[in-house]
Amino acid sequence: MELITTYICKKFDIGIHDNMFGGTLMSLIDDAAGSYASQLCDTPRMVTIKFDELVFKKPVKVGSILKIYGNVLKFGTSSLELYMEIRKHNVYTGEQEIVTHTNVKFVRIDEEGNPIPISERVKQRFADRMQKFGKGLLTLAEKETFDLN
Ligand SMILES: CC(C)(COP(=O)(O)OP(=O)(O)OC[C@H]1O[C@@H](n2cnc3c(N)ncnc32)[C@H](O)[C@@H]1OP(=O)(O)O)[C@@H](O)C(=O)NCCC(=O)NCCS
Repeated sequence: MELITTYICKKFDIGIHDNMFGGTLMSLIDDAAGSYASQLCDTPRMVTIKFDELVFKKPVKVGSILKIYGNVLKFGTSSLELYMEIRKHNVYTGEQEIVTHTNVKFVRIDEEGNPIPISERVKQRFADRMQKFGKGLLTLAEKETFDLN
């Protein structure tokens, strides 16, 4: 799995039970998954078509540091299915607890909003990066090394 983003729970994220609002957690997953899908597929035109079940296993309080991880489950023809996980990160111990996880599916669309295929180049590049680096999003230095080979 790769780390996509980090978020600190703020007062305005809290619902009516002193816990972070579930809809906000869902939105964080959608944001992270959508940006991950777009970066992997080299296009901003990726729309969410499906969210699997979400179970909120642990409460999130103000000040909690959330780490959002993802990985690719499957490239389809026009779709990309991701596994997404939010973990609470303890800054004192480095330990992490899973708050929630789910699968999210995206579809690549054209200018008119119709599904179009994800290119074979994108799929092959992801497979090559996974083999070489164990992740799909590279830092600039990693990308330069990758591009040279
Ligand atoms: C995404 C959208 C363009 C797909 O259109 P569609 O007519 O359903 O497209 P298709 O039937 O050709 O299916 C396209 C892909 O979606 C998948 N798909 C369609 N319905 C699905 C469903 N109910 N569950 C899972 N996957 C589904 C298909 O398997 C296909 O994947 P593949 O190409 O990898 O085989 C259309 O449903 C849409 O615009 N939805 C709204 C998206 C949106 O607004 N999201 C929220 C904001 S980002």
